Amino acid sequence: MEETKKCLLDDAFTSAMALTNSGVPQVPDRYVLPPSQRPAIGSSTSIRDDTTLPVIDLSLLHQPLLRPRAIHEINMACKDFGFFQVINHGIPLSVVKDALDAATQFFDLPVEEKMLMVSSNVHQPVRYGTSINHSTDKVHYWRDFIKHYSHPLSKWIDMWPSNPPCYKDKVGKYAEATHLLHKQLIEAISESLGLEKKYLQEQTEEGSQVMAVNCYPTCPEPEVTLGMPPHSDFGSLTILLQSSEGLQIMNSNKNWISVPYIEGALIVQLGDQVEVMSNGIYKSVIHRVTVNKDVKRLSFASLHSLPLHKKISPAPELLDGNNTAAYGEFSFNDFLDYISSNDFLQERFIDTLKKSSS
Ligand code: OGA
Ligand code: NI
Repeated sequence: MEETKKCLLDDAFTSAMALTNSGVPQVPDRYVLPPSQRPAIGSSTSIRDDTTLPVIDLSLLHQPLLRPRAIHEINMACKDFGFFQVINHGIPLSVVKDALDAATQFFDLPVEEKMLMVSSNVHQPVRYGTSINHSTDKVHYWRDFIKHYSHPLSKWIDMWPSNPPCYKDKVGKYAEATHLLHKQLIEAISESLGLEKKYLQEQTEEGSQVMAVNCYPTCPEPEVTLGMPPHSDFGSLTILLQSSEGLQIMNSNKNWISVPYIEGALIVQLGDQVEVMSNGIYKSVIHRVTVNKDVKRLSFASLHSLPLHKKISPAPELLDGNNTAAYGEFSFNDFLDYISSNDFLQERFIDTLKKSSS
């Protein structure tokens, strides 16, 4: 741990926030993406795509007569996009705003304070960082983050930042609320696949919740860089809160669609584990983050995942007739090992598990 810290410091760790605060007129070269990977911000060549992204009213899930409608909408959204936004999800706006407020205060702290938690080791339960992995990234991304294990809360909360003093309480309340919401969503998703309501819930029962709190400061050259590169999330489900527009998802035509900002709404993204458990009926969603000149953007990505060593495989009920398993077994730990030693932007981990159709 001490060594990691030293190495990062020797490597002149510079957060995106520090660059913004220093008033750089351009992004340093390490942030400049090859032209083909740049976002088409304000470009006349950007493709018009009229895709409307789904917004689902979750209060329907609690009304027996309307639940089937919500389940149907979830089924369509998961098949078409691996993504939907939810409203009336039961998490009060005050809890959401308090969490965003605590995160704002955290990223505004002096560098030295944040560096107390810096680490490039993906197995660390609490770590502050910049880009994806500062010490190994070839191209850098305009993002700072703090990630922490969040469930069960009492096991981890003492290791969370003690500054700002409200952080543990406010982010803790949001983390508990998203954990409950995750349970309802994973049940509804099970049902939408025609599985026992509890099937996916039982698979994920002892699972982990990692909260990635992301900060995308204003950027002098948003047209040449990104806040996060295209990727899918490794877990079962991600519940994402954004403070303003910036997230884009790839639709089936391979066009990037900006996810509209809806105050109080939360974004649900299917991760690789659901893709595998559904035997590919549902796909995890490829997404990326754009940055902008005027507004600092914050997001909370609550990443829910199966237990570290539990083997994940397609649900047996979804394999009938010719429907053979399309993916090999894997665990979350196998995934962490993979990203520690491979460039996950080149090849997605689950694609390495795909079985050929012969
Ligand atoms: C993530 C992620 C999107 C965002 O943390 O995995 O995709 O809007 N975040 O910050
Ligand atoms: Ni993501």
